[in-house]
Amino acid sequence: MEHLIQAAYFLTVFLFVLGLKRMSSPATARSGIKWAGVAMGLAIVVTMLTPGLHNIGLMLLAILIGAGVAWYTGGKVAMTDMPQMVAIYNGMGGGAAAAIAAVELLRGEMDQTGMILLSVIGGLIGAVAFRGSMIAFGKLQGLISGRPITFPAQHVLNLVVLVVSLLLGATLLGGDPITLMIVLFFVAALAYGILMTLPIGGADMPVVISLYNALTGMAVAFEGFALGNAAMIVAGTVVGAAGTLLTQLMAKAMNRPISNVLFGGFGKPGAAGAEEIKGSLKAIETEDAAVMMRYASKVIIVPGYGMAVAQAQHKIRELMDLLEGLGVEVKFAIHPVAGRMPGHMNVLLAEAGVPYDRLFDLEDINAEFGSANVGLVIGANDVVNPAARTDTSSPIYGMPILNVDKAENVLVIKRGQGTGFAGIENQLFYKDNARMLYGDAQGVVSALIQQLKQLG
Ligand code: TAP
Repeated sequence: MEHLIQAAYFLTVFLFVLGLKRMSSPATARSGIKWAGVAMGLAIVVTMLTPGLHNIGLMLLAILIGAGVAWYTGGKVAMTDMPQMVAIYNGMGGGAAAAIAAVELLRGEMDQTGMILLSVIGGLIGAVAFRGSMIAFGKLQGLISGRPITFPAQHVLNLVVLVVSLLLGATLLGGDPITLMIVLFFVAALAYGILMTLPIGGADMPVVISLYNALTGMAVAFEGFALGNAAMIVAGTVVGAAGTLLTQLMAKAMNRPISNVLFGGFGKPGAAGAEEIKGSLKAIETEDAAVMMRYASKVIIVPGYGMAVAQAQHKIRELMDLLEGLGVEVKFAIHPVAGRMPGHMNVLLAEAGVPYDRLFDLEDINAEFGSANVGLVIGANDVVNPAARTDTSSPIYGMPILNVDKAENVLVIKRGQGTGFAGIENQLFYKDNARMLYGDAQGVVSALIQQLKQLG
C-alpha cells in the first residue's frame, strides 16, 4: 500500500508540473488548470487512503464545506474581482500551512530539532502570508484604503515584531514547547503580516500578491518536509518557485527592488512636491474620433482596467477588424500591470479572439508610439501616466509606462474624471494632443464602430 501511495503522489507531482507548463500559454492555460485540478483531487484521495488516519468524518466535512464555498464563489466572482479572490485563496493556503504547523507543534510529537525548525519556519511564513493576503484582499476590495498606511517609527515597530516572532520561534526548538509560547509565536507572526502589508500602496499590490503567493508555496513545502509528505513538498516548491519568478517579473515591471516595495510606503499621493497639472481636458465627438482613426495609417490600442470593467474586449476586437479592413495597421500595447492581475489584458483579448501576434509587450512597442497616428487608450490610466517618469513624489514614480503621449494624437476612453488604482491625477489627459471620449468603454467603442461603418 505504501508503495502505491508514493506512486500516486509521484503521479500527482507530474500532473502539477504538466498543469503549470500548460498554464504558461493562454492557448493551453484552461487545460493546464484542469490538469492541476485533477492532481489536487488525486492528492486528496491518496491522502485520505493513508493508513492510520483519524477523524475522517471531520475531514470530509471540511472538504465539503471548502469545496462548496469555492464552487459557489468561484462561479459568481466577476472577472474584475479576480485579484481579490486570488489574494484570499492564496492567504488560505498560507493559513492552512500555519494551521498544520500549529497542530504539529501543539502535539509535541516531533522529536528532531530539524523537523521542529521546518515546522516553525513554515508556520511563520504561512501566518505572515495568511494575514498579509487578508490585508491585500481588504485593500483590493476597497475595505481598507488602497493608499500606503504609514505612521511614525513604523519600520522600527515592524522590525521589532519580526525579531520577537523569530525569538519566540527559537524558544520552540527545544522540543516539548509551552502552549503559551506557541500561541504567542503565531500572534506575533500574524501581527507581522498585517504590519508588513499596511504601508504598501495600491500600485504595488501586484508585487505583494505574487510575493505572498511565493511565501504560501514555501510554507506548504516546509510543512511537507515536517510531515514527510512528498506531494506537499513538490507542490509547495513549484508554487514557491513560480511565485518567486512572478514577484521578480512584477517588481521589474514596476521598476523597483522588492525591498523598496516591502519597506517603502514612500511617495504618498498628494505629498508636497506633486507636479502641478497644466492644460485642460478636451472632449471629442465619436464622429471626429472615427474620422481620425479612419485616415490613420497606424493605431496603437492601450487597454486597461476600464476595458475589463466594461467587458469591452469583444467590441474592441470588432473595431480592430474594421480598421484593418480599411487598411489601418492596428497593434495592442500591453503593460505588465495593466488591469488587476498578471496577464489580465492578454486573457480578455484572447477570449475575444484578438490574435496573439497583435499583442505587444511594453519594451517591444514603446518605440513605436512616435510613428503612430493615434494612440487609443481604453480604460487605462496609471500605466500611461507620465508622472511615473518625472514626479519623484508620485506613488508610481519609476514605473515604466506606455509612451502613448508620444503618438501624434491620443484618444482616451473613460467615464469621467476617475483616477486610476494609484489614486492620482494624470497629466496625459490634459496634453495638447489628447482628446477625451467620455462614456462606458463598451458603449463608446460601439459608437466608434457605427461611425466607422458609415465612413466606409
Ligand atoms: P487604472 O489605473 O486602474 O485606471 C482604470 C481607468 O479606467 C480609470 O481611470 C477609470 O476612469 C476607467 N474606467 C473604469 N471603468 C470604466 C468603464 N466602464 N469604461 C471606461 N473606463 C472605465 O488601470 P490601469 O491603467 O490598467 O492600471 C492598473 C493599476 O492597477 C496599476 O496601478 C497597477 O499597479 C494596479 N494593479 C495591477 C495589478 C496587476 S497584476 N495587473 C494588480 C493590482 C493592482 P473613470 O472612472 O473616469 O471611468
